[in-house]
Amino acid sequence: MTKIKVCKVTELAPGAAIRIAAGPEPIAVFRLNDGFYAISDACTHAQTSLAAGDVDLEDCTVECPYHGALFDIRSGRAMGAPASRPVRTYPVKIIDGEVFIEMESVDIG
Ligand code: FES
Repeated sequence: MTKIKVCKVTELAPGAAIRIAAGPEPIAVFRLNDGFYAISDACTHAQTSLAAGDVDLEDCTVECPYHGALFDIRSGRAMGAPASRPVRTYPVKIIDGEVFIEMESVDIG
């Protein structure tokens, strides 16, 4: 398991997101009211960046900025058309005030 540093905990407010492009696919890391979550950044409808979408802190969803598909940030589940396939989720760890995502393997280069 490879850890990729995302940011400091204090750098993301609840409802904010950051896009990380250090692994095999871009990843969107979101801060919700109960913690940090990471999902594939590419919408499963037409690959738009979900990190640029609107976050609903009550429903824990992100709305794709292109056609409006909804995804559950915690599970990756597609909750509204036109996307029907889920996005991949990644484990997040907080270590000494910093946010990391964990990946099976990373080919940085
Ligand atoms: S690209 Fe996300 S809903 Fe179409």
